Amino acid sequence: TVLQDMHGLRVVVSAGPTREYLDPVRFISNPSSGKMGFAVAQEARDRGADVTLVTGPVSLADPAGVKVVRIDSALQLRDAVVGAAEAADIVVMTAAVADYRAAEQSTEKQAKVAGNVTIHLTPNPDILAELGRNKGKRVLVGFAMETHAGVERAAGKAQRKNADFILLNYPTREGTAFGGDDNQVTLVRADGSYEDWPRTTKREVARKLLDEALKVRPAR
Ligand code: C5P
Repeated sequence: TVLQDMHGLRVVVSAGPTREYLDPVRFISNPSSGKMGFAVAQEARDRGADVTLVTGPVSLADPAGVKVVRIDSALQLRDAVVGAAEAADIVVMTAAVADYRAAEQSTEKQAKVAGNVTIHLTPNPDILAELGRNKGKRVLVGFAMETHAGVERAAGKAQRKNADFILLNYPTREGTAFGGDDNQVTLVRADGSYEDWPRTTKREVARKLLDEALKVRPAR
């Protein structure tokens, strides 16, 4: 059995991609598998936390003993996460939220036309930043995926979004991030300090993430 060091804590985790529908049969999305977020939810559950997992469309089954909310779009993710975060002690945003959605979503399937087409997109709300503006005593954890200047950019995000820390992962490293069972991350704090963690399973990354969140918390 695992140490019940999260008993009595409420944890909200977002996972997976979002889908931004252009019309009833087409959407913009990304290859997020949901594995990282599901691992965080399962680890928190096993340590005794009360866990809500808000997930975009992924092929993973609902973990037992976790409240699972399935959503499609960033706007739906925002409603579900902001609602659940109200009573939460720790919020972990692993979801790969689409930055944009269709400016106008067609209710009818768009017919093919000759030549190029233009799709108008409008920015989605930044959920982590919204939670950061109304932080309360909650610990806020984000993820970021960068191909370059990762630590600097992740520290900037932690600062701008008022997150306690961000786990930076890398889209191009073999066996990690999108779809993999392993991950290799760098813990980045808003003050720019960082720690490279060795490549390990997503479950082990989840364990260390929650250890760090508990370290941040007693100051509250
Ligand atoms: O996309 P970006 O690199 O800014 O994502 C950093 C963090 O912010 C992630 O934890 C992600 O889940 C969160 N995010 C969000 N709402 C968005 C975009 C990102 O909560 N619209």
